[in-house]
Amino acid sequence: MDDEVRIPDEGTPAPDAPAPDAPAPDAPPPDPGRAAAGEAPGPVPGIVKPLPAEWFVPRGTNAETRWDAFRDADGDPVIGRHVPVERFFVRNHTSTPLIDPDTWRLKLFGSGLRGAPTAERPVEFGLDDLRELPSTRISALIECAGNGRSFYRSQQGQPVPGTPWTLGGVGSASWRGVRLAEVLRAAGLTGAAVDVLPAGLDPDYVVGGTNYGPVRRPLPIAKALDDVLLAYEMNGEPLTPDHGAPARLVVPGWVGIASIKWVGGVEVADHPLYSPWNTDFYRMFGPDHPPGGGDPLTTQVVKSAFELAAGARLAAGREHRLHGRSWSGSAAVRRVEVSTDGGRTWRRAELRDEPQADGWTRWSVAWRPERPGPYELRARATDDRGDTQPERAVFNREGYLFGAVVAHPVTVV
Ligand code: MTE
Repeated sequence: MDDEVRIPDEGTPAPDAPAPDAPAPDAPPPDPGRAAAGEAPGPVPGIVKPLPAEWFVPRGTNAETRWDAFRDADGDPVIGRHVPVERFFVRNHTSTPLIDPDTWRLKLFGSGLRGAPTAERPVEFGLDDLRELPSTRISALIECAGNGRSFYRSQQGQPVPGTPWTLGGVGSASWRGVRLAEVLRAAGLTGAAVDVLPAGLDPDYVVGGTNYGPVRRPLPIAKALDDVLLAYEMNGEPLTPDHGAPARLVVPGWVGIASIKWVGGVEVADHPLYSPWNTDFYRMFGPDHPPGGGDPLTTQVVKSAFELAAGARLAAGREHRLHGRSWSGSAAVRRVEVSTDGGRTWRRAELRDEPQADGWTRWSVAWRPERPGPYELRARATDDRGDTQPERAVFNREGYLFGAVVAHPVTVV
């Protein structure tokens, strides 16, 4: 793909483009799944799978997993290390396409491949070809860069545009597929390759009258060759339409936008590539960032969440076990502290997992509130690199990477 270059001018604010995980696209998204089945559209028309209200909060074209959906009414866990596909959050710029796996082709082209194949005459792989390459299974979290965005406004008094995620724009799954490195080599990767640009087959992203084209974001070749998977299975089953069928990237540790779903074309170039997703979107703009914007976002920050609804009601005079999870894009989470008094005092949570860099660490603490009334729970994690959740997140105009400690209100009755 001959991608346009849209680098914001040095020294000027970023173009006034909305964060792409923000606004509803101009046209109502088509609804291939339900239209085909003749069913009424669900709470998010572009998403194919059912979105029961007890598991999801609809947010524009997206669906956020509710943290209280991690436990049943008795407080027993219903989600282990991996989130079942039915409960996994969905982040769509437009709508889920239905792609025939039998006719689908992955098309690689560009100056970073031997013979520089063109987009018109690419190197092609069908799903069966990919399945014949050595397969790999990994655990990895997918997390939206905007996860936690609503707390810029609610905790820091800093309104930002975009999808007001609480903390449910994240999920962990087991993914099986072929390493992107393997596919690139099979396609004739040369030592000159610099960037890889996977593009989705979902409808073009059109907003405010501007057509940004298909969702696509360059990956530096070093990351592409390191641990990126071209996945065709999620939790042991073929990918479902909403999560990228027939194949998607899984880019461990990085912001979710890197994990392009419904991959069709992949440009491999001997020069840097650009798309609006690494020039206008998914970078930090604002007073605490370089004048032309920060570098394209890569790794996720440390976060924690309680497996509890905001505003949950707990009985006074009884011991409760508070459960939660913490995670980081850079390293395993080995230390979690919890406060039940709005951050005045803290104690160590008991970890329920051997900390691993490829997933979240589950934890719990016992809590016996004696007096009825409102309380504020907080959890603060530290990863193996020593990164700890701060009291405040550094503001950025689009509200990305909210990593500060989140106040979780509960009522003791
Ligand atoms: N890929 C395409 N083609 N289109 C998209 O809208 N959204 C991205 C990424 N890949 C997106 C995409 C974003 S922002 C995230 S967070 C993840 O997919 C979400 O993956 P999920 O819907 O499987 O949870």
